[in-house]
Amino acid sequence: MSDEQPPWSYALRATELMRGASSVVDLGTGGGERLMELRDAWPARVTATEEYPPNFQLATDRLAPLGVRVASVRLTEMDPLPFNDAEFGVVLNRHSAFNCAEVARVLAPGGTFLTQQVHGRSAEELQAAFGAEPLWPDASPDRYVPRLAEAGLDIVNVLTWTGHVTFTDVGALVYYLRAVPWLVPGFSVATHVDSLLRLQHRLDAGEAALTFPTRLYLIEAKRGLDQRTEARRIVAEGYDRIAETYAAWSRSRVVDEARPRYASVLLASLPPGARLLELGCGGGGPSTRQLAERFVLTGVDISATQVGMARVNVPTATFVQQDMLTLDVAEDSFDGVAAFYTLTHLPYGELPRFLRKMGGWVRAGGLLVATLSSGPNWGQVEPDWLGAPMYFSGYSMDDNKRFVEEAGFQVRTATVETIHEDGRPVAFLWVVAQKRTGA
Ligand SMILES: C[S@@+](CC[C@H](N)C(=O)[O-])C[C@H]1O[C@@H](n2cnc3c(N)ncnc32)[C@H](O)[C@@H]1O
Repeated sequence: MSDEQPPWSYALRATELMRGASSVVDLGTGGGERLMELRDAWPARVTATEEYPPNFQLATDRLAPLGVRVASVRLTEMDPLPFNDAEFGVVLNRHSAFNCAEVARVLAPGGTFLTQQVHGRSAEELQAAFGAEPLWPDASPDRYVPRLAEAGLDIVNVLTWTGHVTFTDVGALVYYLRAVPWLVPGFSVATHVDSLLRLQHRLDAGEAALTFPTRLYLIEAKRGLDQRTEARRIVAEGYDRIAETYAAWSRSRVVDEARPRYASVLLASLPPGARLLELGCGGGGPSTRQLAERFVLTGVDISATQVGMARVNVPTATFVQQDMLTLDVAEDSFDGVAAFYTLTHLPYGELPRFLRKMGGWVRAGGLLVATLSSGPNWGQVEPDWLGAPMYFSGYSMDDNKRFVEEAGFQVRTATVETIHEDGRPVAFLWVVAQKRTGA
């Protein structure tokens, strides 16, 4: 049997992180052998947890004489951790369950969580060959990254990898399935003889080996405001630099039939004189002008240059230069909110909180028309976007819809619309939602 290894080294990254910290906890340390291998990098205070009694005993025997505190802790997605707030500079977790909120709680400001996990669908092809299915098909970055961000952590890195495990004979496969019993529950040669024979026939027919995909992922997340602050700075400074270029580009190089259609939804649904808040209004482009002709429009934008242009381009509206995340508005101040191509610039993790806050500013029955992402993006800086670095983030369509609903709105329509930027198709989720009565 041969087993490929991922292109990253969890041990190396754990070593680097420990070298810069004064305390670490290794969640689910097993028998402590891997933590021992990293002993040169241990910080002053080292804690390890293990639930399985034989491993707990092994880890205690091995690590306690070296001054490591070994705790018997049940690790699940729900159970609390028996540690103080901000107790650790590094939280390590290799192939064990973890509770995102608890990990965030026990991390010191500036501290880092590093986890390597087997993907829930890691062995699904191998399992299918024995009529079995993944037990935890949802165990993937898509499940944990949003939870870590929601818990207040900045996502530093998410890596996923598909490798292969290869068996040159069926005996090795039998051995493997006995060693990893949860892959094919109840496996024995007698119960699964038909599957084994089918695989043996493949080898007899000339297949050199039986190869199955295997999947791992690694997440690194940090507690601290650094990354979120940095994301906002990149966006503000970026638009200050490219405001003119953005206006010219969206006029001449972007083919967007969706924007006027969604502006028309607001125009048709709200009465003349309605109070409209436009988030991330930009430099006062055609849709802002059109909306300001019918409504009392307040535009908010983080970029001073964009706001300066908007004031010139749409003199009848009011423009405020501010980060929408810090905006303070009285309850029920607006009949509608427009957010065209702006919420995908918020630091990853901020959108659900922001939408809940914004929901309070809209009267019952009021309308939200917003462009959201059509898929997840855990926060990325494009080094040269129209001439400046630019930060983008996004969520799955289901998460986006859920965030809008949780903010007190009823989603009326949520439609993927494809626009063309420099001839390249780019998909966005356009949401039209109405503020629920009593929300
Ligand atoms: C792609 S432009 C869209 C402008 C305009 N809404 C449009 O549809 O053309 C994104 C705008 O959102 C603004 N923006 C991004 N993050 C913001 C934030 N946190 N608060 C306020 N404005 C923000 C940017 O400065 C920029 O003007």
